[in-house]
Amino acid sequence: MKKKITIIGAGNVGATAAHWALVRKLGNIVLLDVMEGVPQGKALDLWQSGPLDSYPGSIIGSNDYADSANSDVVIISAGLARKPGMSRDDLLAKNVAIVKSCAEEAVKHSPDCFMIVVTNPIDAMVHTAFKVSGLPKERIIGMAGVLDSARYRTFLAEAIGVAPADVNALVMGIHGDKMLPMVRLANVSGVPITELLSEEKIAEVVKRTQMGGIEIVNHLKTGSAFYTPGLAAVEMAEAVLTDSKRVMPCATCLDGEFGISGYFLGVPVVLGDKGVERILEFSLTEEEKTALEQSVEAVSAQMEATGL
Ligand code: LAC
Repeated sequence: MKKKITIIGAGNVGATAAHWALVRKLGNIVLLDVMEGVPQGKALDLWQSGPLDSYPGSIIGSNDYADSANSDVVIISAGLARKPGMSRDDLLAKNVAIVKSCAEEAVKHSPDCFMIVVTNPIDAMVHTAFKVSGLPKERIIGMAGVLDSARYRTFLAEAIGVAPADVNALVMGIHGDKMLPMVRLANVSGVPITELLSEEKIAEVVKRTQMGGIEIVNHLKTGSAFYTPGLAAVEMAEAVLTDSKRVMPCATCLDGEFGISGYFLGVPVVLGDKGVERILEFSLTEEEKTALEQSVEAVSAQMEATGL
């Protein structure tokens, strides 16, 4: 039987995720939004591309959660996006209310779903959805590390002059300025980047990665990135739907791993049909521990601001 994926929010990220989900042949897609006509129009447009790219799945647009019933994966992308001059935290108050209602409605119709939260500020929004949905922590994650690591890998590949696919690199921690692009572990097909780039160049790439979102917001002026965020969410959904056991950095609820408890924070996880099947914990240097502690402080302030 085909898998069912509901994407809540038919804005740029949601519609792009729907597109990638069709291209990746994930199953039948429901694009859901409160705005009448928007999900219907975008879904119709995507559906009509079928003859040109032979997607096996179907896609519908809807304003009714009943159409999302029994979804295997629910992706929440609804909410406001950043404009120039705004931090991700500036979105918090408005997006808490939106994400709360999306998560509550979604689990009413799909109690066994795996939920991926993309709305910003992601670490606080996945905490919000976790609290109101009642889903076990294995079945809910935030998308951020996959996007941030893709940016890090892209910039490293350009600096070194190699194919992005051969760059292995991990960004941990919060999806914000305090994120932690891991330098010690980054490599090109096993060769450490510290052997290939100067300290100054690495520092430049790390900074650009940390500011990767705002660089795009400042260009667009009307919103934030959506092509890679949409694909990152679909990449995570695909790992769960196909039980691939792929390892990706995702915001998961920590329970003592890395010495942290009770916070959603980006760490490497194994994704399979049970959801987050394992957290790949490893020893951090003192410097990395201090940097991760800064992420915890930032997430803790956001979590408090959610009032949940
Ligand atoms: C970004 C948004 C998704 O980093 O936060 O582009």
